[in-house]
Amino acid sequence: MKSAANSILVAPSLLSCDFTRLKEEIGEVERAGCDWLHLDVMDGHFVPNLTIGPVVVSWIRKCTRLPLDVHLMIENPEQYVEAFRKAGADWMTVHIEACPEPGATLSAIRKSGAKAGLSVRPKTPIETIFPFLKEVDLVLVMTVEPGFGGQAFMPEMLEKVRRLRPRFQGLISVDGGIDPRNAPGAVQAGANILVAGSALFGQKDRARALQDLRASSRSAASAGR
Ligand code: DX5
Ligand code: ZN
Repeated sequence: MKSAANSILVAPSLLSCDFTRLKEEIGEVERAGCDWLHLDVMDGHFVPNLTIGPVVVSWIRKCTRLPLDVHLMIENPEQYVEAFRKAGADWMTVHIEACPEPGATLSAIRKSGAKAGLSVRPKTPIETIFPFLKEVDLVLVMTVEPGFGGQAFMPEMLEKVRRLRPRFQGLISVDGGIDPRNAPGAVQAGANILVAGSALFGQKDRARALQDLRASSRSAASAGR
């Protein structure tokens, strides 16, 4: 029986797609059966890269029905909660390192009508977010240094997932370098959302790549029970 506990969501990260074909790229992974779309927002301050803002998110909103999982790698994200919500974000994840008052930011996200997520970069201990767990729907554990797609997965980050899982019933997402080889370990550790950029968009056959990722995580999910 499929229960919430053993369903693993796959969220393609558009950072690795061909932006000249954005609509087709989204259509391809949507038809292939992905669950969410993961959108990486970077400000050139919190991370040394710049990507998309609310304008692009609102165009993406128009070409898909998939939930939009917006990962805000920006300083003072509370200033942009309304704008991203208006643009169509269903989930908004902020970094604890970027929030002067994480509790206030998370409650602003929930008040906007979106679900709230909290993330930690590799050097930040997972324990820093424990005081806020009641205020979040999702925890995103970075498995690379945030800023760029295509980096190597850091297996030692799964220890954070293992420490978090017994205390948190919500969704745990892993983001960075996820592929069919390391996805089973992430799922066994307790993750239930796999964010994947290059492992999907770097492959010619996206449907096949998505299937491979799902198959690997499914075997891990059933082995763990
Ligand atoms: C990195 C981003 C990730 C990244 C994932 O800062 O948060 O979402 O795009 O891409 P891959 O799967 O290529 O590491
Ligand atoms: Zn991301």
